[in-house]
Amino acid sequence: MAIREIRLNGDEILRKKSRVVEEVDDRIRELLDDMLETMHKYNGVGLAAPQVGILKRVIVIDLYDGNPPLKLVNPVITKAKGEQEVEEGCLSFPNQYAKMVRPEEVVVEALDENGKKVKIKAKGLLAQALSHEVDHLEGILFVDNMLPGTLEYVEPEESK
Ligand code: NI
Repeated sequence: MAIREIRLNGDEILRKKSRVVEEVDDRIRELLDDMLETMHKYNGVGLAAPQVGILKRVIVIDLYDGNPPLKLVNPVITKAKGEQEVEEGCLSFPNQYAKMVRPEEVVVEALDENGKKVKIKAKGLLAQALSHEVDHLEGILFVDNMLPGTLEYVEPEESK
């Protein structure tokens, strides 16, 4: 496993559309593991492949809630229901947070790291994280969805 460089706001790759993965092979599994390690290093709850410079439909999520992290390939939101007003950030926008409305519940169909079909029914924070990461695969960033005037810069702990 290896830490990969996180692409930051302003990098044009974040605005590109990611490609469907044709085969879940060892390279994809290595990418998933690297993404997870990179996300954990920066204490993120989700990361999409374009954020490490790879335009493939691959995402990882870990809510640190005791459930194993999700490693998903070609995720598609097949149902979305309800609304929740949330605050969120993004590892490509360090120390920035904004409020927005996300679906309260989603159903996501994807492949797991073995290429097996999975269906995830998610609510609350997991629904929010899945929506955020799937947006990345379309080149959509959280600031595109934010409620006007809610973007805040929060000073990192170390510099206080
Ligand atoms: Ni993000």
